[in-house]
Amino acid sequence: MCGIIGYTGKRDAVPIIIEGLKRLEYRGYDSAGIAVYADEAFGVAKRKGRIAELEAELAKVNISGNVGIGHTRWATHGEPNDVNSHPHLGEKSRIAVVHNGIIENYKQIKDTLEQKGIKFVSQTDSEVIAQLCEHYYDGDLMDAVIKVANALEGSYALGIMCLDEPDILMAIKKDNPLIVGISDDGNFIASDVPAILPHTKQVHYMNDKEIAILRADGVDFFNMQKEPIVRKPETITWTMEGAEKGGYPHFMLKEIMEQPRVLKETIANTLMDGANKTAIDSLDISHFNKVIITACGSACYAGVVGKYVFERLCRISVEVEFASEFRYKDPIVDDKTLVIVVSQSGETADTIGAMREAKKRGATTFAIVNVIGSAIAREADYTAYTAAGPEIAVASTKAFSAQLVLLYILAIRFAQKLGTIDDAKTAELIAEINNLPEKATEVLDHTDYIQKYAAGSINSKSVFFIGRNIDYAISFEGSLKLKEISYIHSEAYAGGELKHGTIALIEEGVLVVAIACCPNLYGKIFSNVEQVISRGARVLFVSTEDTKQTDKLSLVKLPQVHELFSPSLSVIALQLFSYYVAANKGLDIDKPRNLAKSVTVE
Ligand code: AGP
Repeated sequence: MCGIIGYTGKRDAVPIIIEGLKRLEYRGYDSAGIAVYADEAFGVAKRKGRIAELEAELAKVNISGNVGIGHTRWATHGEPNDVNSHPHLGEKSRIAVVHNGIIENYKQIKDTLEQKGIKFVSQTDSEVIAQLCEHYYDGDLMDAVIKVANALEGSYALGIMCLDEPDILMAIKKDNPLIVGISDDGNFIASDVPAILPHTKQVHYMNDKEIAILRADGVDFFNMQKEPIVRKPETITWTMEGAEKGGYPHFMLKEIMEQPRVLKETIANTLMDGANKTAIDSLDISHFNKVIITACGSACYAGVVGKYVFERLCRISVEVEFASEFRYKDPIVDDKTLVIVVSQSGETADTIGAMREAKKRGATTFAIVNVIGSAIAREADYTAYTAAGPEIAVASTKAFSAQLVLLYILAIRFAQKLGTIDDAKTAELIAEINNLPEKATEVLDHTDYIQKYAAGSINSKSVFFIGRNIDYAISFEGSLKLKEISYIHSEAYAGGELKHGTIALIEEGVLVVAIACCPNLYGKIFSNVEQVISRGARVLFVSTEDTKQTDKLSLVKLPQVHELFSPSLSVIALQLFSYYVAANKGLDIDKPRNLAKSVTVE
């Protein structure tokens, strides 16, 4: 995610903003910038790279002023470079804007403004906001901001300055966090508490489509009808370290909780006009007679789920291969093979190696990555981006969920092109996907039950994750999550396969996590559950169906959802289970032993 900070007060804004941006570095970024009101014009400095690059630039341009906005950019539209960095200005340089979020209708707005002769300089969706605000500005900044907010579709947190109203800093947000900090020394806006914690603990958490007007001596809030809103500030009690985690004890839990927003942004980013849709639309799936998904770890397990969805919708067979195996197995690949490469970091050595091996043999490569400008993003023939923002915890959660929804949409688009689903089916599936963020929120509203159950599972010696069909597919990720953060051995197993040997391991007290979201297989997996219970196991039953709970069977009830997309909900229960087992064991959840966030070596 991007980071925003703004200041207006008696002090020079530049050092305050630079220090605030440094406190937002943990969010991850690829460029940074600042704009201050300096007499008759904005002083602007913005650079690709670290904040140190920005500071070097500031030493050259030497700007200062009492009102300013700053930004750390995590690229979602337009590669990381100086021009795409924020702040963005209108073409007359009368309005300066910093933005966090994704504008879904930016292309339509950009086309309209360009037809009016307005010249754009960047490839970003954010520049549209500055240009539109300047276009609407007619002497009243709040009027212009209200018109902009009514025109934008998508998510945004905005800091806005106007040369003609130099004593104010304006802010508005929708579906992206933004806080207002107040102090005797001046007033602040920020994406997150760490940026302003050294200056104040008095903050307002802005609500969607409220407008904040900050002056050196005070802050006023208004609604979209320009009616004043009376608000009381809240007092932050966190430490600095706690603040970076948004008040959560670990980044992993914060990132689990971010999933509804990440799902919403990745879905929007892939369904609307933009880089993802262009990449998907330009690929002719009918050209290929073989599809392989290759990746490592969780990314590969997202591919296992993707296999089931592709095969069900496109009626083509899909192979899933660990990249470390694929690259050295003399793979059967030619120019009729599509190789889908999945990677959060875009820098995993084995996945890069697998992609290069596939390309060498004539395959077409389609990458799903989370980091713009990463090696895989640069080298793949086609690239689509998850909008998970930086994932700090080593154990992947929100990036994995974003990979799932992108794979679902890819499968739907390919099935449309192949004619294996009609328009009605397409509409039904897209509607189901659009409902996932809300359903994910419902799952997250029941963490206390999972937390309690996990507390009673910390002494498990080995845990079995079982399922059938797509529930079996997601069981691999559930098993990996438990292993990598709680250090408890676990195994994913096809429910129907247990009786062919592995059930010999089931004895008194063994924990089995059963996933059951496929209605037509419910009876089958439930009989597997009865088999293991009869041999002494206790079962955590993760299902879209209700069932009678007993002392041996505990139910995590999921919202109703199309079975093909049920992994997006069942995985949240599995993530939470693993998280709370590890938390009860007091382990270093964000940095588990022996693991790295990105395995850039073989
Ligand atoms: C998942 O929780 C792990 N952190 C690990 O398996 C990870 O998914 C794998 O190393 C692949 O990383 P990538 O997505 O950055 O390529």
